[in-house]
Parts: sequence; structure tokens; C-alpha cells
Amino acid sequence: MSPPARKPRHVAIIMDGNGRWAERRHRPRSLGHRAGARAVRVCLEFCLAEGTESLTLFAFSSENWNRPAEEVGALMKLFLRLLDHEVDELDRRKVRIRFIGERSGFPADIQGKMARAEAQTANNRAITLNIAASYGGRWDIVRAARALAEDVAAGRIAPTQIDEALFGQSLSLAGQAEPDLFIRTGGDTRISNFLLWQLAYTELWFTETLWPDLDDATLRQAFDDFAARERRFGLTSAQVATEAE
Ligand code: IPE
Ligand code: IPE
Ligand code: MG
Repeated sequence: MSPPARKPRHVAIIMDGNGRWAERRHRPRSLGHRAGARAVRVCLEFCLAEGTESLTLFAFSSENWNRPAEEVGALMKLFLRLLDHEVDELDRRKVRIRFIGERSGFPADIQGKMARAEAQTANNRAITLNIAASYGGRWDIVRAARALAEDVAAGRIAPTQIDEALFGQSLSLAGQAEPDLFIRTGGDTRISNFLLWQLAYTELWFTETLWPDLDDATLRQAFDDFAARERRFGLTSAQVATEAE
């Protein structure tokens, strides 16, 4: 009997290519972002069916604030609309929604709706959907360092207590499995300040498919490739084979 297929517990995705998808159609980039929202549903359904525990989606980076005001404005309008219209359905599907990133940059109404969506879905257990918005991997690390420095300054911990485990507990996504599979659509092969610490041993998978064109077949390919990889975590292949016995 063949062993059960290895499935990622946590999938982290850079949803890239919305702008190019629209530009190829001679349409405004904002239309690409709207089409991108549809692809989120495709992806979420796929992960629900696969029994994925956590899905982390990069929706808006720290650096994306520097895009033209018109595009940032259109994205804010889209976030607001999704928060108004999608949360009840996600709640019904037992999706737990979490936001990671610097929230203070968002307009107050969006911040309020983010907090409400999290509270409404806090006890759901079908999947945890982490939405990285105004998120940067460097922001995450600096924030954790600052929180630990404050703990030291206040005498709550000694500097010698700071180790990888404690540092990890101070970062976004603490308490969830580390990402097993990273996917980036849109053809670029870079991390773009996504989860820098958390991706240390994540399997990376890239596709030319633009995010709005995402379909089950592409996701299946990513999951199948993941299942076929040997994750060694610094060990030798022979060691990994022995451990699996
Ligand atoms: C990703 O798509 C979505 C966001 C960054 C908000 P892009 O808007 O970066 O699309 P491309 O890369 O320009 O095609
Ligand atoms: C990364 O995509 C951020 C998101 C998908 C939200 P970008 O389009 O901003 O990344 P770069 O600029 O190509 O590195
Ligand atoms: Mg892009």
C-alpha cells in the first residue's frame, strides 16, 4: 500500500498578477483586483476540501501603500466591500478570519470591520484564513523585537530567555503550524517582504499563472509537487528515510 499523500498543513500565498491580468485586457488595474477576489474563493474552497489547517494570503504589502493613490483607494474600497459582503458566508463555512499587518495605516471603518470579522469568526475551526494586509516580513520581525525589548526593560524577562521559540511566539501567526507550502502566482520568483522568518523551511512553488486565472488544476499541481518533495531540514537523505520508517 502506498503511504498517504503528504498534505501541507499551512499554505502561504503571494497573490500576484492582478494588475497585469487587467492590463492585458486593456482594463483598469482595479478590475484585476476585483477578479483577484474571485480567485480567493477558488483557493479557499480548494484548501477546505484538502483539509488545510491554515491559509495565509498576501493581500497588501507595507510597500503597496506607495502605489498611485487611485489604485490604493480602489483597493481600500474593495477591502471594505469584501468585509461587508463576505464575512457572513465565511462564518457559515466555519472559516476563522485573522488579519496580520500594521492596522493603524487603514481607515478607521476598515479597522473596525477587521476586528469585527475576527471576533465573529474566532471560534470557527474548518480553516484559519490569515489575511496579510499592510504586512511586511521586516515589520513583523521588528515588532517582535520591540515587544521583547519592552519585556526586558520592564523586567518581565531576562535577555538570556530570548531564543527562537520565544521570538517565534512574538511574531504574527504564532500558535499556527509553520507554512509548509509557499505559492507565488504571476511569474516572479521572489519573496517581496512576505513571511521572512516563517518561511525558513517552507517549500517554495512558483507559477506563471496570474492570480485571477487561478484554478483547481494549478493548485492541484502545487499540492502534488509538494507531496513529491523530500523535506530534509538540514539532515541527509538517508537520515530522513530512517526517520520515516
Ligand atoms: C497583486 O497583484 C495584488 C496586490 C499587490 C495588491 P499586482 O497588483 O501586484 O499585479 P501585478 O503584479 O502588477 O500584475
Ligand atoms: C507582493 O506583490 C504583495 C502582494 C501580492 C500583496 P508585489 O506586486 O507588491 O511585489 P513586487 O513589487 O513585484 O515585488
Ligand atoms: Mg505584483
